[in-house]
Amino acid sequence: MESPPPAPRETPAADGLLPPATVLERCPAGIEGLDSILEGGIPRGNMVLVAGSVGTGKTTLCLEFLVRGAERGERSLFLSVTEASRKLMQNLSTFEFFHKDLVDQGSLVFVDLPTVYDRLGLGREEMTSEEIGILLRTIRDLVKSLGVRRLVLDSLTSVCYRIRREEQIRDFMLRLGQELNELGCTSLLVSEIGPTPGRYSLHGVEEAIVDGVILLSNVHRMGDILRVLQIIKMRGTAHSHAQFVIQLTPIGLLMAPHLKGGREGGG
Ligand SMILES: Nc1ncnc2c1ncn2[C@@H]1O[C@H](COP(=O)(O)OP(=O)(O)OP(=O)(O)O)[C@@H](O)[C@H]1O
Ligand SMILES: [Mg+2]
Repeated sequence: MESPPPAPRETPAADGLLPPATVLERCPAGIEGLDSILEGGIPRGNMVLVAGSVGTGKTTLCLEFLVRGAERGERSLFLSVTEASRKLMQNLSTFEFFHKDLVDQGSLVFVDLPTVYDRLGLGREEMTSEEIGILLRTIRDLVKSLGVRRLVLDSLTSVCYRIRREEQIRDFMLRLGQELNELGCTSLLVSEIGPTPGRYSLHGVEEAIVDGVILLSNVHRMGDILRVLQIIKMRGTAHSHAQFVIQLTPIGLLMAPHLKGGREGGG
């Protein structure tokens, strides 16, 4: 397994007058189109929301990010809340880019959070501040002990249903982001969203705390549905805000510019 990332490098400005620019180390998603609009990938150690309504491809994008990382020797952890990992792996095995070896050799690890809740004796209702602290410590210990470089939480929304007060969500996310950053772990948090435009999470505070937001949407066009990806924000990155059409294919997610035309509506 690789050690934590080196400190960001500084490059001297070309004219020698401006202060040197910092080059952030990137965590390549391994999805060609996405990496090219993100200057090579997500800044290493950043925490990014993958937001979208039902069936837009959130889980598939996150799984590919982990598989591509595991292939590069970066241990990857999928924390599952909404779907049992056994079922997830069954669905994943329909994609050619997935190799079961990655799971067998421990490069790609699946953990069911409900099982963790049970083991920790956490109830099924709203979590107390103490219980939130226990959950945070458990995630940190897992990441640290396994040397995890890439983490997915599917979904943050399900965790946030049990942390109802806004200031507690803020605190949970700030602490999670800080811990993961210190451990050099890049993370994707899945956010299930409704049709409210301009909102990317359950409470609306989550998108302000994370370092980036990748939005996946279904666009209805001439009796069909196009899946569309858009980077809403990505700290430390001069990225395009354009919409890209995505296709979930057996070999992975493919992206192409979204050519406007025809009748369409967001959803
Ligand atoms: N082997 C496959 N090849 C291509 N596309 C697939 C394959 N398996 C599933 N899909 C597509 O992926 C979709 C599911 O995507 P995914 O589960 O990633 O979406 P999601 O946004 O996580 O959904 P949810 O809101 O239910 O969590 C399916 O509806 C199907 O269209
Ligand atoms: Mg999903």
